[in-house]
Amino acid sequence: MAKIIAVMSPKGGVGKTFISLELGIALSKLGYKVLVIDTNVYAANLSLYIGMSHTPTTLNDVIKFSIPPENAIYKFNSVVDVLPATSKVEVEDLNFGLRFMRNFLFKLSTKYDYIILDTEPGFTKNNEVIIQSSDMILLVSTPDIPTLMTTHKMVILMDKFGVKDKFLVLNKVLRAYYELKDKEIKELMGIDTVLEIPFSKEVVRSVSLRTPLTKGRLFNYFMNLAGFITGKEIKKKKFLFF
Ligand SMILES: Nc1ncnc2c1ncn2[C@@H]1O[C@H](COP(=O)(O)OP(=O)(O)OP(=O)(O)O)[C@@H](O)[C@H]1O
Ligand SMILES: [Mg+2]
Repeated sequence: MAKIIAVMSPKGGVGKTFISLELGIALSKLGYKVLVIDTNVYAANLSLYIGMSHTPTTLNDVIKFSIPPENAIYKFNSVVDVLPATSKVEVEDLNFGLRFMRNFLFKLSTKYDYIILDTEPGFTKNNEVIIQSSDMILLVSTPDIPTLMTTHKMVILMDKFGVKDKFLVLNKVLRAYYELKDKEIKELMGIDTVLEIPFSKEVVRSVSLRTPLTKGRLFNYFMNLAGFITGKEIKKKKFLFF
């Protein structure tokens, strides 16, 4: 059965989609079968990140028309499977509900080792469902105080739902003197930081060109994250902060 990992944040634009996809590619490189699902049914981005313009069936269709989830799965570079949400404007309320999500993930779980859920920002009903349907949650934050404080509210929400396996991923880190230090972040957030990803133009370039990172210095951060998640040892440990 697949382990379900949600990548979440109450804030938009912190790097959830980028991290979901790169983690998926890294886990695939370790030899696991991985599916990345875009659960952001209103403002989906995942298919854009991989330059996939033609996705006739999406998660939105699976929810609305009870289409089998397998029909909405596409292969990216024969490395990782992707289940996108719609790129069209979704006019109706689309709450997927806990029973739907659990059944949907259960059906897919037999075919994968890891299922990664990219999520929408905010304290939404759909995100509450995701929190209750995941085995592990990676909370993404930038290292500035407003984002960290808002993210902390999501830690409290996760505590309310009894989530045990939750970790912080700091993204767009500049290591500037005005950014909070590891110890201060740990005190503020009450959870461990597993990874710090630097702010990098390489990320902006890869997203703009729709070509995800699959090797190199920045990609090694994700190999390390994959190593942490799977318990496999990866060499360049210095990138990880526990
Ligand atoms: N480490 C980084 N360095 C520089 N830019 C980054 C980094 N990570 C992400 N970005 C940029 O930030 C933007 C937002 O990233 P992304 O779409 O992954 O965020 P998100 O949290 O999924 O947003 P949304 O809440 O809208 O779904 C992208 O344009 C991406 O290029
Ligand atoms: Mg996103």
